[in-house]
Amino acid sequence: MCGIVGYVGQQQALEVVVSGLRRLEYRGYDSAGVAVISDGELAVRKKAGKLTNLESLLGDDPLPAATTGIGHTRWATHGGPTDANAHPHVSEGDARNAVAVIHNGIIENFAELRSELAQAGVEMSSETDTEVVAHMLADILPATGGDLAAAMRQVCQRLTGAFTLVAIDPACPGVVVGARRNSPLVVGIGAGENFLASDVAAFVDHTKDALELGQDQVVTLTADEVVVTDFEGNPAPVRPFTVDWDASAAEKGGYDLFMLKEIAEQPKAVADALRGRVGPDGRLHLDEMRLDDAVLRDIDKVVVVACGTAAHAGLVAKYAVEHWTRIPVEVELASEFRYRDPIVGPRTLVIAISQSGETMDTLMALRHAIAQGARTLAICNTVGSTIPREADAVVYTYAGPEIAVASTKAFLTQIIAAYLVGLYLAQAREQLDPSAIARILNELADMPQKVDLVLDTVEPVRALARRFADATSVLFIGRNVGYPVALEGALKLKELAYMHAEGFAAGELKHGPIALIEEGTPVVVIVPSPVSSPLLHDKMLSNVQEVRARGALIIAIAEEGDDRITPYADHCIRVPAVPALMQPLVSTVPLQVFACEMATAKGHDVDQPRNLAKSVTVE
Ligand code: M6R
Repeated sequence: MCGIVGYVGQQQALEVVVSGLRRLEYRGYDSAGVAVISDGELAVRKKAGKLTNLESLLGDDPLPAATTGIGHTRWATHGGPTDANAHPHVSEGDARNAVAVIHNGIIENFAELRSELAQAGVEMSSETDTEVVAHMLADILPATGGDLAAAMRQVCQRLTGAFTLVAIDPACPGVVVGARRNSPLVVGIGAGENFLASDVAAFVDHTKDALELGQDQVVTLTADEVVVTDFEGNPAPVRPFTVDWDASAAEKGGYDLFMLKEIAEQPKAVADALRGRVGPDGRLHLDEMRLDDAVLRDIDKVVVVACGTAAHAGLVAKYAVEHWTRIPVEVELASEFRYRDPIVGPRTLVIAISQSGETMDTLMALRHAIAQGARTLAICNTVGSTIPREADAVVYTYAGPEIAVASTKAFLTQIIAAYLVGLYLAQAREQLDPSAIARILNELADMPQKVDLVLDTVEPVRALARRFADATSVLFIGRNVGYPVALEGALKLKELAYMHAEGFAAGELKHGPIALIEEGTPVVVIVPSPVSSPLLHDKMLSNVQEVRARGALIIAIAEEGDDRITPYADHCIRVPAVPALMQPLVSTVPLQVFACEMATAKGHDVDQPRNLAKSVTVE
């Protein structure tokens, strides 16, 4: 949700900043803007729409050469996606004394600050919450002797809400100042140059040495130095880390779309998520599982908090973790968990699942759980992000960067990681014997190859998607672990094809939703295995009959060799036979391809669907 880049060094700042913004555009694409300091003057260009609009503007109206600059790509909250509301926002004054600011997050007390500024005679030129910061900085700067970091600290003390702020001042050329509370900001350390960004992807071309900033910190960057303090000005601790993937991982690598690349990467992502988890003693080891076995033995309830696709991964995990551990598992949307009065305490393990590690709803749910004394664990893809930093323990998914807004490989690897946590709990509590755990780990180890097989056979799914591109509604039904897969298939179609789609527990259909079925309504059925789930298979066949009798057109996702579904399916997509709890790892993949292809057929921007952003850092 908004991408931020700051640079100071020897290179042309504009090039570094714009290439960084290209990597961060997944975070928001309502507008883009840049500001540089050249010869003691501030120069700003900004434009509504995608980054290409800004690039065209820069072609028509170039910026002067500069080695200090900032850039922003926006997901609109306060004020529509217009040129005026695009960042950077600039204080009043001429190019020699105006301050430029970019922001990610929401300043909750902006209205009060805005009216204070209005009373002081300041005229606003945008509808944003951000602009107040530019004016406040300009107001405070003289009293600090022109110390931009000191002014930033004072401003931050007056703000409530979530913010990453980055500012430059032409009176301090060669200085970039950033601040963070609740929103992401990382520092890239180069030789004679330094970077600030919402995500390491923005600077991984230049350096892999990075610093995680903590909560409520202000960072001052010059070409040769990085100074971090808290909001009071005291030196603050930072955690250095090394980015463990190459810049090429954040490129399309020959694919037309990031989503296609990320779908294709799933066998490797699943393998990476599993790698190195079994120690020489044959026992499951999870890095950074900072909860010891005695604590895990004492847990009497697991609560998963997550949003969107990550919540669907949590729902899949519920079936497995309860089965293996016999501990009750609740799965709750993070935004709902946070603002009720959930029953959690020291014997509850709260698992926050998040690809980005910065989803604000999930972060707030995690903090609420911590405040209630719960034990907490993060399942996360982004190393160094806020959620794993604040949880007691973390299991990383190691899926590599996921750039397409629609989550694909993150989903599969979140399921893997949650399964590993379930097995780890079962091991610590001696609920499963070592041979049972070893058998399940072997089943998991087979999954990269099974997912590969699915990818080899998805071509008919593309044809099917094109055929149904004009449908007005698609329903998805599943049972057991197939139910969250149905929810995920529907979510993919909504966010990419902008089509009405809903996922249902197949048995629930007859309690109401079956009224939606009309002649020709496509119903995608996640068919349980007749071998590993014969009872559920029978029940699903009945549910298929029920909707067929009312005119539904059946698209079955069914196991190889399942002949009993064939007479009832108008179209049958085959997936390899796998153990029942592994089925989501294969049956989700055709649904991802279906949504991607349908969106392409409809001419939509698959990687950057309308109204969405990859990381949702506001509540
Ligand atoms: O980064 P997170 O995993 O916390 O993100 C959660 C959701 O915003 C995310 O899964 C969203 O639903 C995806 N766009 C769905 O494809």
